Amino acid sequence: MSSSFGLDARLTRYVRDANRPEHPAQLRCRLETEAMGDVAVMQISPEQGAFLQICARLVQARTAVEIGVFTGYSALATMLAMVELHGPAARLYGCDISDDYTGRARSYWQEAGIDGQIELRIGDARETLGELIGDIAGSVDMVFIDADKTGYDAYYEAALRLLRPGGLVLFDNVLWSGSVADPQRCSADADTAALKALADKVRDDARVDMAFTTIGDGILMAIKR
Ligand SMILES: C[S@@+](CC[C@H](N)C(=O)[O-])C[C@H]1O[C@@H](n2cnc3c(N)ncnc32)[C@H](O)[C@@H]1O
Repeated sequence: MSSSFGLDARLTRYVRDANRPEHPAQLRCRLETEAMGDVAVMQISPEQGAFLQICARLVQARTAVEIGVFTGYSALATMLAMVELHGPAARLYGCDISDDYTGRARSYWQEAGIDGQIELRIGDARETLGELIGDIAGSVDMVFIDADKTGYDAYYEAALRLLRPGGLVLFDNVLWSGSVADPQRCSADADTAALKALADKVRDDARVDMAFTTIGDGILMAIKR
């Protein structure tokens, strides 16, 4: 699980306890993912999960797209809120390149009774998003982008085609543990450069309203005008 940038362990615990407890399937997903070792750092934190849920409620999300599913924690959090709002009409389309990671996700979604409402598109998201645009362009309420950082610009453009006006796109890891503020890292590292370029682009983009927040490792939010 990732940790919130700049929070020490004591404050992290405080924030966690200040949120409502996770669904048992979320807890199992988090603990079993932790047992996978170093890759677990890719998973969002419980407080980010709570944040995605409140975002889903704010935009009354019925249809969502997630780019970067991993073992399913963020999709599970989002869908639990969406199902409370819209019951069986809620749908989440998840894009990921890995059969292995998303195979694990299924078991948590099944435990929560939402598996039938999540459709996976396995492959490079640059391609699978093209197919999704053909299927559901203009009808999506919320897009969460949390995959390869050099793809974020392409995913942003796809998200703007998928979203309805008023729909919300969120990008995870826009602080990249602080690297984005270091000009040397920006010129030496492709991921850091991509995240900095994206933040500049979204800030100056008249197609959206936006806020760069410091939740977790930084979540950039934009609402399609
Ligand atoms: C940071 S993890 C996502 C974490 C997830 N949101 C969660 O909360 O557990 C990034 C995921 O992006 C996927 N990924 C990486 N490159 C990709 C690509 N080009 N297209 C689709 N998925 C990709 C990886 O397989 C990985 O599962």
